[in-house]
Amino acid sequence: MYRTGFIGASTQEATQWVAQSVGDARTICVPFAGSGRDIFSMAGPDRLIESWDTQFYSRAVVEGVFAAKEMKTNVDAIRYRKGYMFETRSLKNIDERSAGFIDWVADEGTMFDKAAMSSAIVRCTLMGRMTQWYANVEQLYARFLRARENNLPFLNAPGEFIHHEGSVLDYKFEDIEPFDLMQVDPPKVVVGGDVYSSNFDVLNKAMHGAVETLPKWTSKVSLANFRQLMNIPTKRILFMYVSGVKPTYEEVRRMLLEYGEPIEEKSFTHRGRTDYGIILDRRNHSLHQSEE
Ligand SMILES: C[S@@+](CC[C@H](N)C(=O)[O-])C[C@H]1O[C@@H](n2cnc3c(N)ncnc32)[C@H](O)[C@@H]1O
Repeated sequence: MYRTGFIGASTQEATQWVAQSVGDARTICVPFAGSGRDIFSMAGPDRLIESWDTQFYSRAVVEGVFAAKEMKTNVDAIRYRKGYMFETRSLKNIDERSAGFIDWVADEGTMFDKAAMSSAIVRCTLMGRMTQWYANVEQLYARFLRARENNLPFLNAPGEFIHHEGSVLDYKFEDIEPFDLMQVDPPKVVVGGDVYSSNFDVLNKAMHGAVETLPKWTSKVSLANFRQLMNIPTKRILFMYVSGVKPTYEEVRRMLLEYGEPIEEKSFTHRGRTDYGIILDRRNHSLHQSEE
């Protein structure tokens, strides 16, 4: 199972269920790639996974690790550059050497290096939450080397990958063959916002991400965004959600049932929270609708 210390990656149990649910799907749409954990679990020969994410980090993992034939690296020592992190020090408590090393890798590293560096940065912050720095440059380098090592077994994953760095909500899905499956694990809104736009924007800027400011999710926009995703042509939808967030799972489930027939529902309890998964069949639903 692919692990990077990245916040929001599904739990092991949920990811195993995702992998089992792929069935004979040949084309899979993943609107929210995140750490790539679910993507890797669904990868297989003769299978195409097309994914999106607003964070550069997901692109580095998909293109620099899963889709890469071999390891490509430019980093053989700690080197420094005065770039975004050095100039802004926008991660609380970050020292100038760690900031300078991050900036050097952001400029000179390969995609494979930047995947490892992003994971190392997250692991150098307090509880991996990207709120404050908690390391020195030697620890950062050690974590970078470990992350690079940990990524090796995930190189050259089976099948084909197409990744888009950007918002799935801005993408035009016109005149395309329906995907066999769409796996949705969206940002979850806790007290006012999502963790990515509030804490991970600095990582995205440091890595020269294409999206200038990560989109903010609120309880108001979530349901509208989910409805927009329902326009993506697909035969089945696997939707993942969690307890204790807004909108609630019950609200999201009710909305989803307007778009498809449930074929399977799961819940996993994990450290006081419940993860939910629901699989919907869209083909039957559109058939029912046209028959009505
Ligand atoms: C819960 S995570 C997905 C985790 C993923 N299942 C995994 O295996 O790691 C949600 C992701 O949605 C991304 N995201 C937020 N808004 C987005 C948008 N409009 N388009 C694409 N991705 C977006 C966030 O950057 C974050 O990586």
